[in-house]
Amino acid sequence: MSGTPPSGSVEALRAEALAAVEAATTAEAVEALRSAWLGRSGRLQDVLRGIGALPPEQRGPVGKAANEAKGAVEAAIDVRLAALRSAHEGALADREWVDPTMPLAAVAPAAAPAATGRGLGLVHPVSGMRRELEDICLSMGLEVLDGPWVEDEWHNFEALNIPRDHPARDSHDTTWLEDGNLLRTHTSPVQIRTMATRKPPIRAVAVGRVFRHEALDASHENTFHQLEGIFVDRDVHVGHLVSTLRTLLGEVFRRDVEVRLRPSFFPFTEPSFELDVRCLVCGGTGCAVCKRTGWVELLGCGLIHPNVLRAGGIDPATWSGFAFGLGVDRLTMMRHGIEDIRHFAAGDLRFLRQFAGGLVG
Ligand code: DAH
Repeated sequence: MSGTPPSGSVEALRAEALAAVEAATTAEAVEALRSAWLGRSGRLQDVLRGIGALPPEQRGPVGKAANEAKGAVEAAIDVRLAALRSAHEGALADREWVDPTMPLAAVAPAAAPAATGRGLGLVHPVSGMRRELEDICLSMGLEVLDGPWVEDEWHNFEALNIPRDHPARDSHDTTWLEDGNLLRTHTSPVQIRTMATRKPPIRAVAVGRVFRHEALDASHENTFHQLEGIFVDRDVHVGHLVSTLRTLLGEVFRRDVEVRLRPSFFPFTEPSFELDVRCLVCGGTGCAVCKRTGWVELLGCGLIHPNVLRAGGIDPATWSGFAFGLGVDRLTMMRHGIEDIRHFAAGDLRFLRQFAGGLVG
């Protein structure tokens, strides 16, 4: 006697398989049923394989019933898998949803280490100041640009009117790379890149990291940040420079600031100035921060030297401009009363946690 059932029994097998598929609760279990019923040595496949041993009049109906059963089980498996997958995704969405608008402070206080001991991230005070400066500049209608850290000698020095033997190179202790390039010693090379890619009028700033290969002390780091400003238009004069910087610094310090210019020298500007602000700590009467002078030196600036305009592809007969370079770390130190610039890159969490105001949003 053959082990192959008559077509009535195929119906029973089909019902059994469909019930098993329906009862399966994981995708793995469904896949196991696929192989147990439909695989090469699966139970419905067995029926087809045994057909030859049946009496001839049964072969047709049993074969038909077995093939239909296979098709039905196959379809049921696909339906079940899809249902399980969407239930799984639904559960994931329920369990792992994130509300990106929820303030982080409401999720967990940043300064307090979480249960993992790792705590949450904070914005570095210099990054916070940098973002603030960028926001202020954008609100003043200035473009915020960027430039590369690895620069060539032409952009960092020559195009800025600092030829090879110029004494100004001594003050820019340079980190030279093996390929002859260098780590930019200031953000001024962005001036050249900006002029070369834009037509005047230009009103732009660039904030970023710069590098100096020099001895460290409380006011010198070998990496710090600058905000570079560049304006090119017709008939630009020092009044434009002063009013722009007063507006910018007034926003930074959130009050009216008094500024003064002192003559200075930079190869890329003519005339060149240092800009001082009336000491915000003592109001000008003299304190330790302003070294009893009532003024704090804040930035270098001036009218862009014609050679620099030319190097940027701009005709100095038609256009003129002003530029400035501001130390962002210095500004951050003034804002928070930080006495040593070396804290910024030291990675000491006890220092950084004091700036929990600037949460990662
Ligand atoms: N690049 C100068 C420095 O790092 C700072 C500076 C001074 C930038 C005057 C300027 C400027 O754009 O006009 O020392």
